[in-house]
Amino acid sequence: MPASGYADRLCLLTDQLKKQPSGATLCRKFSLWIHNPFRKMNPLLQPYQLGNITLKNRLVMSPLTRRRAGEGGVPGEMNALYYAQRASAGLIIAEASQISPQGVGYMNTPGIHSTAQVEGWKKVTAAVHAEGGLIFLQLWHVGRVSHSLLQPGHALPVSASAISGGDYITTPEGKRPMEVPRSLELSEIPGIVEDYRKAATNAMEAGFDGVEIHAANSYLLDQFMHSSSNTRTDQYGGSIENRCRLTLEVTDAICSEIGNDKTGIRLSPSNIRYGMDDENPAELFGYVIRELDQQKLAYLHLVEPMLSLENHPHMIPHVARHFRKHYTGTLVTAGNYTPESGKQTVKAGDADLVAFGRLFIANPDLPARILNHAHLNAPDPDTFYTRGPEGYIDYPYIS
Ligand SMILES: Cc1cc2nc3c(=O)[nH]c(=O)nc-3n(C[C@H](O)[C@H](O)[C@H](O)COP(=O)(O)O)c2cc1C
Repeated sequence: MPASGYADRLCLLTDQLKKQPSGATLCRKFSLWIHNPFRKMNPLLQPYQLGNITLKNRLVMSPLTRRRAGEGGVPGEMNALYYAQRASAGLIIAEASQISPQGVGYMNTPGIHSTAQVEGWKKVTAAVHAEGGLIFLQLWHVGRVSHSLLQPGHALPVSASAISGGDYITTPEGKRPMEVPRSLELSEIPGIVEDYRKAATNAMEAGFDGVEIHAANSYLLDQFMHSSSNTRTDQYGGSIENRCRLTLEVTDAICSEIGNDKTGIRLSPSNIRYGMDDENPAELFGYVIRELDQQKLAYLHLVEPMLSLENHPHMIPHVARHFRKHYTGTLVTAGNYTPESGKQTVKAGDADLVAFGRLFIANPDLPARILNHAHLNAPDPDTFYTRGPEGYIDYPYIS
């Protein structure tokens, strides 16, 4: 029952009680309950039970690539400080991190495939845990959103099919058009699944509380799912079931390795960036979300459309609201939320948790600011991807 309907009924009941001789005491109790400050608390600031872990609030820090890893994609002290500053989030999802040297698409992003990277991440998880925070790691293979200048041995990037993303990529030699990727051989696919599985094991060794599979935003798993980027004719192409096979195999492998309750997944059903499109996104994502629902994952994380869908009328405008009915587990929603719209989304039951990206970049103490109705710092896009501490660890806290 919606909260307002419930309150209306209580008022009716109160009025009826007032008319009865013994109703006065009960009325006072009702009145105390109705005016209890806890009830009025912002639902975003209420704790949430996520499997075996208790989140202190329903604010999630979105995964945010900041391109400030050290040599060899190894996180260091500055990264640890950045995440520790944001430990008051109910849950931090640390930035996309490549599962293999082939999974890289941007300079200075972290990885989770080498021993040095695992050691580097240990500093981050220890710093977050010392501040009472919880942190998952997003696992990433970019597929065709890369360039041979970034790839080991200058090999071509790989994808579901040999179709370019049609955009530009920043390489050590400047901006370059995306190349036509190499279509993965059927025999290579078990190796990709294995890389994800190993990366999840590494993440747990590094002290993360869980992992998020990055199956969103135009990267490899998304490239397999969408019909515009997958024209394969084997068991990984063609039907919706075939196109979703890799994502579901990766999910299975990670769940059996680290546990379903430590595995989340991110999808972006209305994403059109880097040439992504699908004939029938409602059917495609309806299928994969129903399959994922059976896995009893830690959560499903859905991204709302980030670009105008004016020329894409078949895309879904309100993603979380649309797919809520297909998913019975914890649903996280992300994309252009303000504290107010996030609160209304949770109140309406469209999602359980709300992820904030740019607001967490600029407001390390976002939960405290929401609680105190404090002014929010504005994020500075010019420093999103620069190398130093500026725009990274120097956003002010409320005093
Ligand atoms: C600087 C920046 C880096 C991002 N990096 C990632 C990433 O690593 N993984 C991911 O899934 N999304 C990434 N995103 C998307 C965010 O997680 C989020 O979905 C998006 O910013 C919308 O949320 P917001 O409106 O609260 O910022 C990035 C966005 C920004 C602005």
